[in-house]
Amino acid sequence: MFSNIDINKMNHLMEENKEAKQIISQLLENHHTSVSMIAHEIRNPLTLVSSSLQVIEAQHPEVRQFHNWEQMMEDVQFMCSLLNELSTFNNSSTLHHSVFSIERLLKNVAVSFAISLDADNSDIEFTSRIVPGMGDFTGDKIKLEEVLLNLLRNAREAVGEKGRISLSAERREDMIVIQCRDNGCGIPEDLTDTIFEPFVTYKENGTGLGLSSSKQTIEAHGGTIYAQSSPETGTVFTVTLPV
Ligand SMILES: Nc1ncnc2c1ncn2[C@@H]1O[C@H](COP(=O)(O)OP(=O)(O)OP(=O)(O)O)[C@@H](O)[C@H]1O
Ligand SMILES: [Mg+2]
Repeated sequence: MFSNIDINKMNHLMEENKEAKQIISQLLENHHTSVSMIAHEIRNPLTLVSSSLQVIEAQHPEVRQFHNWEQMMEDVQFMCSLLNELSTFNNSSTLHHSVFSIERLLKNVAVSFAISLDADNSDIEFTSRIVPGMGDFTGDKIKLEEVLLNLLRNAREAVGEKGRISLSAERREDMIVIQCRDNGCGIPEDLTDTIFEPFVTYKENGTGLGLSSSKQTIEAHGGTIYAQSSPETGTVFTVTLPV
């Protein structure tokens, strides 16, 4: 994977030299194809292993007593989700555009997040404030929805059992501004620069691909994403999207 510094260096080289631009673009394309192929090739047999293990568990519930069975099931699940996220990450900047109401998208995301909290009998207080009048938006609806769900999931993981999360959005001139706010554990100052890098995670079962793929998606829309955080007050992620 490339770090932000590598990407800046490559962009610089591409601006300076047309031949380098062509070769680097080709290499990047090959790199993306290889990552997708590897993820795909491993995911298929792994999905079979995972389903077989689930069938074994359903037919022979006693296996749950086996030493390390639960840990093994968790590890297999983790590998499946890692490969899924890797392939999402690898495709985060390839957009499939359509024209849609971003207001409706935000409202749908807020409703399904609220339902998921209810379903878990959660003590987390969730509010949303989606200001009407955002107009039509051209972009990748599914990828933007993934970004919002990533931010809300991170917020949920940050507040734990009890806390407050809010989602707000409004149009400011030619910009849609979306904020996801929580009063959870916050991000220590020395880590804020790294959280958007791929595979950076501070969670036991995290893959560290949520924010890096979100950043790629938002930047592919010409927008920005940044975090303001303190361990005392919690975290605000702000996404801006040009209309
Ligand atoms: N709302 C938040 N509050 C506190 N820390 C956060 C928040 N959002 C992100 N972080 C920090 O940023 C890190 C990277 O987040 P990211 O979503 O990329 O990966 P992750 O949540 O660890 O794993 P996953 O791939 O499952 O999303 C997290 O491990 C966490 O330390
Ligand atoms: Mg995450």
